[in-house]
Amino acid sequence: MCGIVGYIGKREALPILIKGLERLEYRGYDSAGVALMGRGKIFVYKKKGKVAALKKFIKSKDKKSLAGGIGIAHTRWATHGEPSDRNAHPLLSNSENIAVIHNGIIENYLPLKKILIEKGYKFKSDTDTEVLANLIEDVKKNTKVSIDEAVRLALQQVVGAYAIAVLSKDDKETIIIAKAGSPVVIGVGKGEHFIASDATPLVEYTDKVIYLDDYEMAIIKRGKLTVKTIQNEIKNPYVQKLEIKIDELEKGGFAHFMLKEIYEQPKSIRDSMRGRINVEGGSVKLGGIEKYQNKLVNAKRILILACGTSLHAGMEAKYFFEELAKVPVLVEYASEFRYRSPVVFENDLVLVISQSGETADTLAALKLAKEKGTTIFGICNVIGASIPRATDAGIYTHAGPEIGVASSKAFTAQITVLLLIALYLASSQGTLNKKEMVKILSELENIPKKVEKALLTNATVIKIAKKFKNAKDFIYLGRGYGYPLALEGALKLKEISYIHAEGYPAGEMKHGPIALVDSNMPVVFVADKGGSYEKVISNMMEVKARKGVIIAIINEGDESAKKIADYVIEIPKTLEFMMPLVASVPLQLLAYHIALLRGCNIDKPRNLAKSVTVE
Ligand code: AGP
Ligand code: GLU
Repeated sequence: MCGIVGYIGKREALPILIKGLERLEYRGYDSAGVALMGRGKIFVYKKKGKVAALKKFIKSKDKKSLAGGIGIAHTRWATHGEPSDRNAHPLLSNSENIAVIHNGIIENYLPLKKILIEKGYKFKSDTDTEVLANLIEDVKKNTKVSIDEAVRLALQQVVGAYAIAVLSKDDKETIIIAKAGSPVVIGVGKGEHFIASDATPLVEYTDKVIYLDDYEMAIIKRGKLTVKTIQNEIKNPYVQKLEIKIDELEKGGFAHFMLKEIYEQPKSIRDSMRGRINVEGGSVKLGGIEKYQNKLVNAKRILILACGTSLHAGMEAKYFFEELAKVPVLVEYASEFRYRSPVVFENDLVLVISQSGETADTLAALKLAKEKGTTIFGICNVIGASIPRATDAGIYTHAGPEIGVASSKAFTAQITVLLLIALYLASSQGTLNKKEMVKILSELENIPKKVEKALLTNATVIKIAKKFKNAKDFIYLGRGYGYPLALEGALKLKEISYIHAEGYPAGEMKHGPIALVDSNMPVVFVADKGGSYEKVISNMMEVKARKGVIIAIINEGDESAKKIADYVIEIPKTLEFMMPLVASVPLQLLAYHIALLRGCNIDKPRNLAKSVTVE
């Protein structure tokens, strides 16, 4: 996690760095700091807490120390050492000649630290990053090489994940960056360069970007850039065009990014299928995987690997892949898969799902599956991120930038794309005929309108949120397509309101969780009129018999469910496997409004970060 930013050019660096940190704050907000290249020294200012705290802190500082056109900045998501001023980045080397910001984990920092301590180095922080700053200094001292060469040689001793930016007093006109496992992108301007963990801070300055590959470094001087590998092989940087627009990064009148993103879903779902479906022809076109069509059609099994909300999208996909395309699907947490001895066959197809495209566990699971010789498809939202670059083929969700830490529109976009893959496979294999495809695709085309209607439940949801804002626990239940939604609804509530919530398959309730039900326990049911409807109604009766309070998401006009539930949220009916696209909306809104009423920091919930680039 964490956000890194850098600037080198003719403008004043500080305002660019601060704005960049604000754009990246969703990646971590334990502390923030800047290092600016001054005439005689590197000025470092850092503060525990959000970027706002840093801004306040530097207000009183000597203006001269804040001036200049070269600097680096960091917003931290602590891994080694508590969030504090002391552990905030940038970290200086002992001589204070070298400043480093870092995203990731230096896994062998302890043995390196031991050696450095034996050599007399003193450490002022608990971070792994300070070890790197002193290691670079030590290499430089011993080998008398330039700073970029010292960085390169030091990195050869490092095990772990990093994206770093380095300033050195010995070369005042240079920023050095390097990456392995954590992301970094360079924005190319006229005689100036911008550096950031992702493209969002660059959009307002340039649309030309360079993504570094793992084990590559860039030596950036004013208007000049050299890219090489850590093994010293010079590379030709590939400059790409950025597609993000600046207004996509603003709140656009909404109180929070999360609310904006919830409301964007009719559009983001439409964008996810744009140009990919032909309703009259009953066909799906997926350019990103065309070349690998055979791998998909011949797959004996599909393995879906992801984390968090993306995993929940994968769980929905399991159900419709098996229902529509009759292919067995296994879904697994990437963080589990990567550390066991999974059996993967060459004729399996692995599907990795990730909004950010940077999740370290998902990336590691992908690499493990690749080693086993299988074909990997990716479903990602962030163009050019590490995961899409590591897959054989893939499909972008095109949901637009998702800034709120709690995922909303990315989830429904992922389900849309997964459904397109399932339909593509089903029609290629003949498990769905043209008539069936036409029927399904015309309903899919209608989904954005149904999502718009689902957004009209907002007023009802606010009333319910007011009743339950002080609840200590929640249970979320659903069966079939409602089950992953129950998990997702509970995850949303936990993440942003800090209320404990359990998602469970409704049929499993009797095997344990029902013991928790009493008159203080709100139970949210996904009770649409799908195949398990009658069974879910029975589960609702069981909860009611134990005086639990029922909040049910039902289809419009379902009078019998209304009689049982204490509160209902009515959503339009659709085909069962598309229901999650519509029913997600009230679940997201419920979490949002409860969190709002509790005064929580919705877009930046405590302890979380948008992009989880550590294990
Ligand atoms: C979602 O609300 C969470 N913040 C989190 O579970 C997230 O879905 C997970 O970290 C995976 O992220 P990714 O989709 O970017 O890989
Ligand atoms: N490991 C470093 C630290 O704990 C960097 C963490 C990050 O990526 O923000 O300071």
